[in-house]
Amino acid sequence: MEAAGKAGIILNTFCGGIGTCKKCLIKLEPSGQAVLACQYRIKSDLTVTIPRDSRFFEHKYLAHGIETDIDGVADIYEKYLEISSLDKIFGIAVDIGTTSVVAKLIKMIDGECLATEAALNPQSKYGDDVISRIAYAHNEDKLSELNRDITGCINDLVIKLCHKTGVNAHFIYEMCVVGNTTMNHIFLELPISQLGQAPYKAFSLDAHDLPAWKLHIAMNPAGKIHTVENIAGFVGSDTTAVALAVDIDSAEKMTLAVDIGTNGELVLGTKDKLYAASCAAGPALEGARITCGSRATEGAIEAVVVNEGDIDLEVIGNCPARSICGSGLIDAVAVMLELGIIDLTGRFVEPANLKDKVSPAILSRICEQQGEPAFILSDSGAADKIFLRQKDIRETQLAKAAIRAGIKLLQKKIGLEDADIERILLAGAFGNYIRKESALRIGLLPDVPLERIVFVGNAASSGARMALVSQQYRDKARELAKKIEYIEIAHEPEFQDVFADSILF
Ligand code: FES
Repeated sequence: MEAAGKAGIILNTFCGGIGTCKKCLIKLEPSGQAVLACQYRIKSDLTVTIPRDSRFFEHKYLAHGIETDIDGVADIYEKYLEISSLDKIFGIAVDIGTTSVVAKLIKMIDGECLATEAALNPQSKYGDDVISRIAYAHNEDKLSELNRDITGCINDLVIKLCHKTGVNAHFIYEMCVVGNTTMNHIFLELPISQLGQAPYKAFSLDAHDLPAWKLHIAMNPAGKIHTVENIAGFVGSDTTAVALAVDIDSAEKMTLAVDIGTNGELVLGTKDKLYAASCAAGPALEGARITCGSRATEGAIEAVVVNEGDIDLEVIGNCPARSICGSGLIDAVAVMLELGIIDLTGRFVEPANLKDKVSPAILSRICEQQGEPAFILSDSGAADKIFLRQKDIRETQLAKAAIRAGIKLLQKKIGLEDADIERILLAGAFGNYIRKESALRIGLLPDVPLERIVFVGNAASSGARMALVSQQYRDKARELAKKIEYIEIAHEPEFQDVFADSILF
């Protein structure tokens, strides 16, 4: 695994390299023997073949967020007026996600976004969730390694942005960085081991302002890098930025902001009181731990709909289906529920009981795979069959239950029924691709009318842009991070019961 990383090839590491996900298979040559890259020790020179399915391909990045009007308050540029002319002061807003990194080149005088670039977070080669990164950075050298990876990635994005726009990197004076608490700490090279053990404390929740040269960022060395405040160990500055971008602080209506990923982050409340929580959904909704699952990459089924007697699929890249990603998974499970193929407990219904209820085409998709009942989504002949089996339905239930239980526990904290939630803002890469109807059908979100659910795109990036150009927004971010009360939902006495209840569809 490390050798592949050094060669610049990032393998799938859904289980963080502990040998359980089987997504990192490689072939030893010339024998063709298949081994797990994360478990195999190299003793001498070796030739291997890395199958396409084991590679971590770049997936659809969500670079765009809601655009918030920031006219009139941009003032950070003023501190550079002595050394640069007004039209030559630029900044970069960066959102460091566990999986992807998004950077925007911004005109500091008015906050206009000139270009956006995104890349895979190169730390993914050490594991695809924050826990495996924390485990990897068990000493200072390893932490520095992760830090070098992310600064190198940001520098590459800066070069690309400059290339795209013709802006000289020398005129980039300011950078604002947001990310979850682990990403924030790695970027600042702060200790992270305590984030991996209860009570999961951040080393620092504060904003930091550091000279660019100190963090080895390729911009004007006289420039500054600003990181936004974190809220708690598992709710980082990206959530602060989302809260800033959607202006949840002035919400008159009861608002729920949800950012769905390996960790789901939630903020619920109004301008009077705001609560946040983090739910460990695991990577199933990102396609991991699902037999035919993958990230949102070419060949992945991203949508499933019922048409007149059968189902239709949408596949990324309009090619034969090779896998299914998170949004496709949620659609597929919703469709299976709708057709009665699985029941409310998630169990496959006996095909004999479906004969009069579904069309012959649908019935022919029900079969057995790896000793379990399964539903074939695609059998194009171009690749193996793409299906969901009983185990995959269970994994989906566990992931959706983690998020829904988190939401329910926050609702209980305020004393809210589902109908009391007046707006649900879905943020983040995944949130933007799921279909609202399907998310409601499988019970991922509270039962509210469709029109109350709004996609807000990469709101963390938008919040970073706001804090990049304006002191007023930096002050607001600080207030928000203090004001939002973090709830450790796993410590709530009702957690187990609410979680078990949320497993049902
Ligand atoms: S089995 Fe190797 S990374 Fe999961």
